[in-house]
Amino acid sequence: MVQTFFKRSCTIDRLRRGPSAGHIDLFAVRLWGQNIGSKMRGQAPSSSITLLFVFFRALFRTAVVTVLLSLAAASGQEPKLINGYEPKWWKEAIVYQVYPRSFKDSNGDGIGDLPGITSKLDYLQKLGVNVIWLSPHFDSPNIDGGYDIRDYRKVMIEFGTMSDFDQLLAGIKQRHMRLIIDLVVNHTSDENKWFVESRSSKTNPYRDFYIWRPGHTAADGTRTPPNNYPSYFSGSAWTLDPETNEYYLHYFTAKQPDLNWANPKVREEVFSLMRFWLDKGVSGFRMDVIPLISKPTGMPDLTPEQLKAPPNAYANGPHLAEYLHEINREVLSKYDDMSVGEATGTTLAQTNNLVDDRRHELNMIFNFDAIKLGRSDFGLSQLGAWTLPELKAIYDAHATVLTKHDWDTVFLSNHDNPRIVSTFGDDSPAMRVPSAKLFETMILTLRGTPFLFEGDELGMTDFPFKTLADYDDISVKNAYKALVDTGKISAEAFLTSQAKVSRDNARTPMQWDSSPEAGFTTGSHPWLAVNPNYKEINAAREESDPTSVLNYVRALIGLRVHTLAFVYGDFEDLDPQHPHVFAYTRTLGSEKYLIVENFSSSPVTYTLSNGLKAANLLLSDIPGSHESNVSTLNLAPWESRIYKQ
Ligand code: NOJ
Ligand code: CA
Repeated sequence: MVQTFFKRSCTIDRLRRGPSAGHIDLFAVRLWGQNIGSKMRGQAPSSSITLLFVFFRALFRTAVVTVLLSLAAASGQEPKLINGYEPKWWKEAIVYQVYPRSFKDSNGDGIGDLPGITSKLDYLQKLGVNVIWLSPHFDSPNIDGGYDIRDYRKVMIEFGTMSDFDQLLAGIKQRHMRLIIDLVVNHTSDENKWFVESRSSKTNPYRDFYIWRPGHTAADGTRTPPNNYPSYFSGSAWTLDPETNEYYLHYFTAKQPDLNWANPKVREEVFSLMRFWLDKGVSGFRMDVIPLISKPTGMPDLTPEQLKAPPNAYANGPHLAEYLHEINREVLSKYDDMSVGEATGTTLAQTNNLVDDRRHELNMIFNFDAIKLGRSDFGLSQLGAWTLPELKAIYDAHATVLTKHDWDTVFLSNHDNPRIVSTFGDDSPAMRVPSAKLFETMILTLRGTPFLFEGDELGMTDFPFKTLADYDDISVKNAYKALVDTGKISAEAFLTSQAKVSRDNARTPMQWDSSPEAGFTTGSHPWLAVNPNYKEINAAREESDPTSVLNYVRALIGLRVHTLAFVYGDFEDLDPQHPHVFAYTRTLGSEKYLIVENFSSSPVTYTLSNGLKAANLLLSDIPGSHESNVSTLNLAPWESRIYKQ
């Protein structure tokens, strides 16, 4: 009873601030149309029935909301727990990451920009996502895709102006969505005024904003770095700066010096810039490599064992909890915001230390076990072999280790990883669509706040990279110098592996339509080449195809948004060892959903264990699929189904 009441209050809250009733209803109708359609095998409901349905549903909803709101107000009770979880908007969010450089160019210079994103807000609203995560939009020399910030309070000139940012934010809010931005404060650009000052003299007041060390000097005067730390982007993590003849630390490129968080003035500056953006109205932050901000005590050399996985040694330093707690106390706790930490070097077992809500630190983190399955997140990454039981074991472990005080994220893509369908699915012409749909199904029905990356909803694929000149990413260029130029690996081997793992796979321009340059720019020189398959894979084409990935993802999001069991429900993996099928349930009170996914390019006949029956089919990624009330399922290649039990 208590649960029912709180579930209702939570739903009321979502309706109050959620998408407009009309928007919700359109989704409901589409889903309803699909279900009925599948039951009636192709007989679509007539448009007059649809209109009547919309009308009565809207009327009914308004009446129900009014009654429930007055009940909630009269009771004076605050919503408490849902299945043991404290309800929060960011737990119910569906986040969509925009990489501004690649999303939409508004002025023909070949670079995506903020007005470009604003022009596509209706598209995002129709998709149904309700939080947008914007990768860095700040003033930057752009050596690392904007993850090298020169001025935290300015907009990158190629992306527009602060007024463009304000318009973007207003447009997002008008559509009842929220915006979170990237907080990149482990390091700055070397062109940031703090570093310009810091490097100018050993006595400059900003000297201690960064990490400076004299390093070692041999008898013959040869200088070597303070320790053997490697950079994430090849070579040493230390650079000798001629101005003061000392080394500074940079975990990433030499143009990204690490801030010294041990200095309270650095922390004050960070809190102040966070307040600046929160006061503007953003709803939180994705925190770049946040576990790196506290450096290891004394920074001794890494041992040979530690050198196999340096992020584990760099991350979660002795003062991390103290710094995160301070961020929370001084800033985050004062706003209705969300925080998601990019948790490089952090194991599942360490996750509670960052996200347990009794600690008042972060809301959730990105754990990379799934996305990096079979490959490392440091140095030269290579696509490795992986099996479905391994992937399932990761999600199973999350469900076991994380408690009701922790919150999780679920994602298989971002701007640092190749495309989902090419990496985990099958991007061949026959299998691309169902396999792209399957992964979206999985991400939107597993535990945790789902994060989608731009183009996932179209089933965009990896780019056919051939030569070094095809890449923009500094990490690829640095690795080429470190490995190929020194003869450690052949150019051919390097380029073959890079094509499969490069971050640039995700960063090619969004494919909007079949016009030149995929409608991304009106110019003829996009900053990174458009994938040649854009005439086949683009939003306009998918819009008009009822069986497209885009229309499927819209229906799926519509279902997720209205189903609290996918948010707060318990997860059970029904068959962890099955090599091709992932079958699991999400249960919230008496509501249970069964999800069955065939991770293979062949059909599979699958019998549910323990006499379980798949009850009512709500959604399948294969048009015409209709098996309900059965215990043996005939799954098409890459078919995924959602049943209400
Ligand atoms: C993680 C970001 O996601 C990546 O793109 C960037 O290169 C590094 N942090 C350094 O900021
Ligand atoms: Ca532009």
